[in-house]
Amino acid sequence: MTSQHQLVQSYDIVASQWRAKIEGLGYAAAYRWMVEICGIQSEHVNVIDIGCGTGDFSRALIEVAGPPNCLTLLDPAEQMVRTATRSLIHIAPRLKPLVAKLEDKPQQRHDVILCAHVIEHFADLGAALSLLKSYLAPDGTLLLVVSKPHWCNWIIWTRWRHRWVRPTRMLDLFAQAGLSCEWDASFPAGPPSRSSHAYLVKHL
Ligand SMILES: C[S@@+](CC[C@H](N)C(=O)[O-])C[C@H]1O[C@@H](n2cnc3c(N)ncnc32)[C@H](O)[C@@H]1O
Repeated sequence: MTSQHQLVQSYDIVASQWRAKIEGLGYAAAYRWMVEICGIQSEHVNVIDIGCGTGDFSRALIEVAGPPNCLTLLDPAEQMVRTATRSLIHIAPRLKPLVAKLEDKPQQRHDVILCAHVIEHFADLGAALSLLKSYLAPDGTLLLVVSKPHWCNWIIWTRWRHRWVRPTRMLDLFAQAGLSCEWDASFPAGPPSRSSHAYLVKHL
């Protein structure tokens, strides 16, 4: 694993190209598919995108379900937060950009948490899930995307030194963290179907 400081610097450097990569590799379409199949409603709800990158999971939510009451974009990489804010400000008027880490104390609880490809950077996955739980309102919904075992993750690892987790292991980790996985699935097509797994999670 690289240090947190190096990791954040690396994400800052790629911020200007991130959105094109996410679109081109099919992750934006995968996030839209997930929001739609999970039936997420955004009207009157407060949403936070944790490790938002260039805001592409949030964009998927807005395109499928409309703008939420308030959307917080949280990421420790300042350039990611700036790029996400510029990209979304015209389609989601109530934006709260926040240069911060998941480990920082939540300022409030949220009805919907979006979190894609972030906990892979934590050495202790159980601790990362407990932190996510602390951001979640009692009846809230966490949409989580986590890398799964596939050879393509070795290629990504050479650049990002991330981890990947078997879906069966994730189910154990959710239970240990006091979370309940209500739905999970592979993505239907393209690189996301090979690299990643989708989960809808609530409080136990
Ligand atoms: C693989 S990118 C995913 C970005 C976005 N969620 C997406 O799907 O395109 C991982 C993101 O997590 C952020 N990140 C790294 N460490 C974090 C931490 N401790 N708390 C919150 N976000 C973190 C990085 O800055 C980066 O933007």
